[in-house]
Amino acid sequence: MRYLTIALTKGRLAKQTMALLDKIGISCDEMKDPDTRRLIFTDEERKLKFFLAKGPDVPTYVEYGAADIGVVGEDTIMEEDRKIYEVLDLGFGKCRMCVAGPAGAAKLLNGQEQIRVATKYPRIARDYFNDRKNQTVEIIKLNGSIELAPIVGLAEVIVDIVETGSTLRSNGLKVLEEVCPLSARVVVNPVSMRMENERITSLLSAMNDALPKEGD
Ligand code: PRP
Repeated sequence: MRYLTIALTKGRLAKQTMALLDKIGISCDEMKDPDTRRLIFTDEERKLKFFLAKGPDVPTYVEYGAADIGVVGEDTIMEEDRKIYEVLDLGFGKCRMCVAGPAGAAKLLNGQEQIRVATKYPRIARDYFNDRKNQTVEIIKLNGSIELAPIVGLAEVIVDIVETGSTLRSNGLKVLEEVCPLSARVVVNPVSMRMENERITSLLSAMNDALPKEGD
């Protein structure tokens, strides 16, 4: 039997995914060691390999088949636009993609103004302003701490993830429009889905059964 390789998004999503896998009897203790510098972990008994990657790289590994399966945020799936199957909503990692800025910037979202939009998600921001709002904007790609941009005058608004809203609040910014809700998803390489259908399907259905259901 060949190994099935699973790419996890480093950080909180990986922890939540491992907790879910634990529930279905897949525990990779080695991976839980916070001091480890190892990048790949093997479960010999079940013929599984796991590795941790940066979120935006997970769809890349899965598209090329270097990982059969990936767990990654829907924001990253949308932004990367890779040839992969999105097969399961894990329900955790819930947040919203929003347009945010100072309250006074709301009037700039009327479809007419030529504004600058700072974001880590240029594709999502472009699609939103072009297709849904029909507003021509200049997108400025940043790599983190996006909330800084309207404060220091780099852009009028930002397109970013809002979870609790506390980063916005602490910086005097507000949600101005909601682009879409988001959560963590399982993605699968299309060839793997065909070649290893039985193993992948049974893993997915075990994961699905272990998810908390409404009313739990
Ligand atoms: C994300 C996002 C916001 C923050 C939102 O940033 O870009 O800044 O979390 O969370 P909140 O609504 O609960 O405050 P992240 O921590 O991933 O780091 P980054 O700024 O480097 O992108």
